[in-house]
Amino acid sequence: MRKKIIAGNWKMNKTPSEAAVLAKEIAEVAKDAVCDVVICPTAVCLDGAIKAIADGNVAVGAQNVHFEEKGAFTGELAGNMLTEIGVKYVIIGHSERRQYFGETDETVNKRTIAAINAGLTPIVCVGETLTEREQGIMEETVRRQTKIAYLGIDGDKAAETVIAYEPVWAIGTGKTATADQAQEVCAIIRDTICGLYGSDVAEKIRIQYGGSMNDANAAELLSKPDIDGGLIGGASLVAEKFAAIINAAK
Ligand code: 13P
Repeated sequence: MRKKIIAGNWKMNKTPSEAAVLAKEIAEVAKDAVCDVVICPTAVCLDGAIKAIADGNVAVGAQNVHFEEKGAFTGELAGNMLTEIGVKYVIIGHSERRQYFGETDETVNKRTIAAINAGLTPIVCVGETLTEREQGIMEETVRRQTKIAYLGIDGDKAAETVIAYEPVWAIGTGKTATADQAQEVCAIIRDTICGLYGSDVAEKIRIQYGGSMNDANAAELLSKPDIDGGLIGGASLVAEKFAAIINAAK
């Protein structure tokens, strides 16, 4: 049985003081959670959020990590900078980074390797655009993204990572994939991992769904056999809504 994992991607929302307040509210509503709970504030809010919820069972994740350990990379963050302040997870290859910041399958692979080397748990994002779905290349796209993301990564390390299936057309649009659509693609991703590493790793790796997941649709999505959690944007910014999703992960 894979433990469910509910993660909030706060994107570019909340100032440090607001983030500390929301982190505390979430720690409170998540105190009896039976799933893993992660919040991913912006970089400048990480330290404050970690300190605000030091005693709780909510882990903190970053929204990106650079692939080099240090050096002349203005504006970037290295893995050991994140682990030193207590960051545990990192979102890698979110479609917004692919769309607006030139992230590619190759840089996703490099960042995933860097995250693992630094001791962070990567949440590797994959997902097709609406055009790719309409052109009938959804499966090809997510298989390619998954295979390239895991190039050069050993099975025992891959098993500990998390993959988030986020259909780009469902992000922030209010259009959720149906539970059957999400299950279909999460099963394809698990099958891809099985092809790379075999069934033991495929059975261990956790696959989240993300894209307009909310308190109303979470239970059905999370009931599907290959959906092991959620990566939530908008609904993770309101403690009560996020709490309902955490509760749906029982
Ligand atoms: P929404 O839940 O706002 O659609 O965002 C999903 C997402 O991109 C999480 O990473």
